[in-house]
Amino acid sequence: MAGAIGRPLDRADGRAKVTGALRYSAEVPYPNLAHAVMVLSTIPSGRIHTIDASAALRQPGVLQVFTHENAPRVTGSKGPKDDNARIIAVLQDDHVRYDRQPVALVVADTLERATDAASLVRVRYGATDAFTRFEHADAFTPANVQHVAAVEDRGDPRGAFAAAPVRVDNVYTTPAEHHNPMEPHATVAAWDGDNLTLHDATQGVFATRKRVAEVFGIPLSHVRVICPFIGGGFGCKGSTWPHTVLAAMAARALRRPVKLVLDRPQMFGSVGWRPHTEQRVALGAARDGKLVSTIHTAKTNTSVFDIFVEPSTVLTKMLYDVPNLRVAQTLVRMNVSTPTYMRAPGESSGSFALESAMDELAYAAGIDPLELRLRNYAETDPGEKIPFSSKSLRECYRVAAERFGWSRRAAQPRSMRAGDELVGYGMATATYPTNRSMASALVRISADGSAHALAGTQEIGTGSYTVFRQVAADGVGLPFERVHFDLGDTNMPMTPVSGGSQTAASVSSAVFAAAQVARDNVLAFAAADASSPLYGKTSDDVTVQDGRFALKSDPSRGETYAAILTRHPVGEIEGRADSAPAADAKKLHSMHAFGAQFAEVRVDPQLGTVRVARMISAFAAGRILNRKTARSQYLGGMTWAIGMALHEVTRMDLRNGRIMNANLADYLVPVHADVPALEAIVVDEEDPYVNPLGVKGIGEIGIVGGAAAIANAVFHATGKRIRDLPIQPDKLV
Ligand code: MOS
Repeated sequence: MAGAIGRPLDRADGRAKVTGALRYSAEVPYPNLAHAVMVLSTIPSGRIHTIDASAALRQPGVLQVFTHENAPRVTGSKGPKDDNARIIAVLQDDHVRYDRQPVALVVADTLERATDAASLVRVRYGATDAFTRFEHADAFTPANVQHVAAVEDRGDPRGAFAAAPVRVDNVYTTPAEHHNPMEPHATVAAWDGDNLTLHDATQGVFATRKRVAEVFGIPLSHVRVICPFIGGGFGCKGSTWPHTVLAAMAARALRRPVKLVLDRPQMFGSVGWRPHTEQRVALGAARDGKLVSTIHTAKTNTSVFDIFVEPSTVLTKMLYDVPNLRVAQTLVRMNVSTPTYMRAPGESSGSFALESAMDELAYAAGIDPLELRLRNYAETDPGEKIPFSSKSLRECYRVAAERFGWSRRAAQPRSMRAGDELVGYGMATATYPTNRSMASALVRISADGSAHALAGTQEIGTGSYTVFRQVAADGVGLPFERVHFDLGDTNMPMTPVSGGSQTAASVSSAVFAAAQVARDNVLAFAAADASSPLYGKTSDDVTVQDGRFALKSDPSRGETYAAILTRHPVGEIEGRADSAPAADAKKLHSMHAFGAQFAEVRVDPQLGTVRVARMISAFAAGRILNRKTARSQYLGGMTWAIGMALHEVTRMDLRNGRIMNANLADYLVPVHADVPALEAIVVDEEDPYVNPLGVKGIGEIGIVGGAAAIANAVFHATGKRIRDLPIQPDKLV
């Protein structure tokens, strides 16, 4: 029997998803459910002078209006310094620190009544001058920068740059962006005495449990967080934000379950976003294109009350072989909500700058951009000075370039045409670290010859239900169809937050280990039974396929799970496992996935419109658990890259700090007409070091380098270098 791992199986939850049968957090029914609507600030900075909720409170069905004057006090809304938890502002004082900060919460018996009453809450502010100008704000280096980003000096970067015969030195900027998953943030909170159940759209049920328990000052065991599905997260559901706490606060005060769902404009408020970046990249090279110096410094913005660093320079430490290097990051405070992780935080924005600069260097040196990258190929990690656990980037370059037809590219910019349109070819490198955290899983094998695997992890749209079922099936030796897998509940075994592309690597390790423990426990039960053909046998003596143990010495002798467990008093045997990376794993090997992105654009020289004609990319990310869901991840990332290159930008009115395009009509994302035939090539790779199954994460690498590949293609088409995203027509005409 061929194993289930690797097969391009359909999503286990696909039919339920497309038929609407699934229940997302906002759809969980509760008797007596009350509905909460947040009232958001209309200024970015100042104090609340008065809040008049009297008109709202007079409306039929309104149960309460919470403001900073009457909201229950919570103890722990400040983020602990030792992790990445955001500081949560929940009606605890009269300060306004950003546009769309929650300033009141209206709860009523129906959503319509709550929404209507929320519109009647009158807030008078004393506005103070807001920091809204990125360029004018003072930059500082946060104390924890080394922890969350990269600061490093290698050799003599300035001296080597000054002496280099070929140099480029430019500033690249990427704008604020908002995640906007289709499913908005949503929480249903229900208390039973001192016990809280939260149905929360979250990328981390355990992280949410921890944070909410801290905020309310209650034991972890009193909070249960459930989230069987989320309709996209991309990082914005990777932290706990005010609305989750507000829902729980209201539910406790009103002694009834409360639902709070953000509307689309509110998604531009208190739930994170990708900060603005301004990055200088200076590259110095010998005439043959060999890098002698790289300087990459990034300035990004955070809120006035919290720290978030978009780690744009991290990839620069490891991507190319360069003897002299400086990377550093600074922050500016602005009256904005705290930014957060957004698909490949750091690598996406940083690769736009670095990979645009590499393209500029290629033209300055008169070397093909792909050849330039090969001349600077890092055989070992140049920052950590350790080998890569595996690196198939050369193969990615080769297969993607060949499939794309890179050799047909005319070297001269503005020299390729199709009818009236300019044609451009561009490429860039992609990379993303292979992360893994401790995870646990439980697998039960039953007398009916089926297995049930459990891990508390999340399904953020990536295919968790499918791939972990495949892993469990191979781990126990049962067909995929005989295995069930459940996730998304803090009552299940503990797993990490689904961020940093770590879920597949972390949870597959635990599920596989637990499945093997369960298998071995069943074998041990049979081995103790003198009547069993497996009597006295250990896992070394047997194979298990299609639910049947067979002796290696005589495969005709054996027993099925069903036969063995029918004799078991409970008819069921389970296995549990915790699986964690070795403490020194990343000291011995540098662990990253790699890829190569190639884009062709068509530019209308009169109108300045850019269309991506095709993108062909190759990625090597260790063992692929499911080629179908993996391809979807890559294509999703590449689509994001098109949006990053051409469409996405959150615009703030600099006079008053208001976000001006807080809706999906004005905040542009790629639509079908913007997304051409995309091709993601899977480059097979075996990695014996990253984790037991050799899995690298793939949720984020698809966006990395994509915007640079498109911008580089735009330069090739037009001869015009756009260093400020998104590339909109006004920048090209
Ligand atoms: Mo991802 S941006 O690390 O959720």
